[in-house]
Order: sequence, then C-alpha cells, then structure tokens
Amino acid sequence: MQRLKPRTVGAGSFSAPCIPALAEHYFAKLMQLFDALDRPLEPADVAAMRSAFHNCLTEGFAGSPYARFVLAYQPAESNPLALDCTMSVVSPSLEEQYQDWLQHSADSEPFGSEPDAMVVELAKELGRAGPIRILDVGAGSGRNTLPLARAQHTVHAIEPVPTLAKQLREAAHTEQLEVRLFEHDILHDQIELSAGPYQLIVLSEVSPHFSQRDFARVLPRLVGKLAPGGVLLFNAFIARSGYSPDALAQQTAQSVWSTFFTRTELAELTSALGLVLSRDEACLEFERAHLAEEAWPPTRWYVNWAQGRNLFSNIAGVPPIELRWLAYRQDPTTELARPQGEGGGATRSASPYAAATRADSTGSMSISPAAAARCKSKTDQALASFGIVW
Ligand SMILES: C[S@@+](CC[C@H](N)C(=O)[O-])C[C@H]1O[C@@H](n2cnc3c(N)ncnc32)[C@H](O)[C@@H]1O
Repeated sequence: MQRLKPRTVGAGSFSAPCIPALAEHYFAKLMQLFDALDRPLEPADVAAMRSAFHNCLTEGFAGSPYARFVLAYQPAESNPLALDCTMSVVSPSLEEQYQDWLQHSADSEPFGSEPDAMVVELAKELGRAGPIRILDVGAGSGRNTLPLARAQHTVHAIEPVPTLAKQLREAAHTEQLEVRLFEHDILHDQIELSAGPYQLIVLSEVSPHFSQRDFARVLPRLVGKLAPGGVLLFNAFIARSGYSPDALAQQTAQSVWSTFFTRTELAELTSALGLVLSRDEACLEFERAHLAEEAWPPTRWYVNWAQGRNLFSNIAGVPPIELRWLAYRQDPTTELARPQGEGGGATRSASPYAAATRADSTGSMSISPAAAARCKSKTDQALASFGIVW
C-alpha cells in the first residue's frame, strides 16, 4: 500500500463564505480533507496554515461580507507526496450578485409590484401641503419611485445595478414621469447629492445589504441631505429584546442579506447624528395590515426574509431578529458635525462591491505528508444553537 501512495493523488478546491467566526469550523474540514487525501499536515505546518487561513477569512470579510475564500490544492510537482495549496478571495460585485439572484428569482417583479405601504403613508403625511422632494436610495426597478412620482412628488432615485436601473428608466420614460436617476453605488462613488435637500429619504430593503460598517458610513451623508423637518425612513433587521448576538450570527447575517443591529447599536448610530425616532413598526405586521389583500405577500420570499429566516432558517419558534420600519427626524437643537464635501467626512475604505469579481491570491504553501493532530471544531455547537443550516 505504501508504494501506491505517491500514485494516489487528488486535486480540487474548497470554497465557502469568508466568515471569520467560522474559521475553525472550516479549518477542521480542511484537516479532514487532507486526511482523506492521505496528505495530512505536519504538526509544524498546522499553525502556519491555520494563521494564513484565519487572515484570509478576516481580510476577505473586511473587504466584503459576500467574499468567498477558495483553497485550491493539487499534488506538488516536486514531490507527489506533498500538496500545493493556494488560497484566494473572490468578491462578487453587486451587479454579479443581482444577476445571479434575478436569474433564479421566481417572481416576475423581483421586489413586488406594489409600493411599500409605509412609504406611501409617510409621503402622504409629509406631502399634505403639496408635492415634496424624495430620495429613493437603492430604488431597484422603481417599486416605490414610480408611484411616488405618479403622486406628483419630485423623486430622485439611486440605483447602481444596470439591469434594475434600466427597468426603472424605461418605466419612467413610458409613463413620462420625471424621475432623476443616479446610477451609483452610494457607498463608493462620489455621488453628486447636491440635488437635495429632501423632505423624505427612503431606503427600503437596502440596509440589510450593507455591512454594519458601511451603513454607519452612509447614514451621515444622507442625514446631511435632509430638509428641516425631513424624515429618513429605512427598514432594518433589529435584534429582539433579550437576544445577545455573537460574532457568528452578526457576520453570517451580513453574508445573507440580513445585516442586523441591536437596539444599542442602532441608538449609538442614530443619536450621534441627532436623529429622533418617530416611527418604529414591524414591517410584516404593518405591510400585511395596510397592503391590499391581493398584494400580499409582496413576493414569495418576503415573509420568510422579513422574519429573519435567511439567517435563522430552521428555528422552530420566532427568530431573534425581525425587519422593522424605522423613521427618524432630525432634532433641530442638535449641533452636528456635517459631512465634509459631497462624500462626507468618513474615510473611504476598500470597496466591497467596487470592482467586478477579483481574485487576490493571499498565499500558498506545500503540505508534507505526515500524521497531523486533528482540530476540533467548536463552531459546530454554535451553528446548531443558531439554527444555521450549512
Ligand atoms: C432588495 S432591493 C430593494 C429595491 C427597492 N428599494 C424596493 O424596495 O423595491 C435592494 C436594492 O438596494 C440596492 N443597493 C444595494 N447596495 C447598494 C449601494 N451600495 N448603493 C445603492 N444601492 C444599493 C440594490 O441594487 C437593490 O436595488
């Protein structure tokens, strides 16, 4: 059997989302893989490999919560008993994520055909005396933008995904609605937001796409564009009271379009901007109660997603996060540090979505054949308790 070993070879790749809290879980799987290939790590290599792997995941996640690591392995040319391994990180652009999702979407209207009841209600309230100026951030194909423009409001929309922007533009053109469309990624482009201020700024189903850090970065810019007495309305996943999320839940949420905030995190974010909460309602209950019966549910995925089940998919009871409508007004007495220039004062960090798919090689190493101590995955337990299915 020993003589057959050099002639028994395996090559392939192992890939998964860059979730740093899962590093040990993945690492244990890698050790099992190398064992199965009859190329276990030398004890001396385990630490180096583990450290390179942890760095790869941390850097990948910091670049984008949608990043994936790819570990490719093949027999080393110089020694068939060794494996050559290369680790890289791949981050799909926002456009690529949507192309993929839209292709698999079973709904003809990807986000629903009716506007959000909350958006309509607030626009009506604010527009009692006449049309208002509204900014719809991450407008998609115009589910909210178009009805708001039909109601005579001046609507500006930001939508970076070309397919969605095209649908919005064409629909507005067909109906001869005046909608100003900015095809920009609000996080990373120097968007010219000089067109404000706005009485209403809406982000519907957008914040769950952003990492917590990016949402914190974008809020000051938007608040800087609110007219006096204006309202910032967004929906966001909020942790239910009594739930203390750990890093695994927080990080995984960001990779499944379900970024969430605890009440404390949200209060820190908004009070620093002088924002005062004026509406706080569960999206599911509010929309179900206010949308026409035939418009419910808005899409096939909406109910499960809004309940937090993208993340807590197999939890039997009520998931510990839920999508909520949150409307804020600015406290007129608060002295704010205004964002500097158009891009705000925040430092711009590496773009999660900026470029098309990129693959940055983050390291390679050879593994020599020897028995290696098996790593135990502590993460398995945490996975079970959060009900995340892998
Ligand atoms: C789930 S869709 C919701 C679309 C629309 N707001 C609605 O409710 O029908 C999320 C939208 O956010 C947009 N989005 C995601 N990241 C964005 C970013 N960085 N800048 C601007 N829009 C973004 C997406 O392109 C997408 O159109």
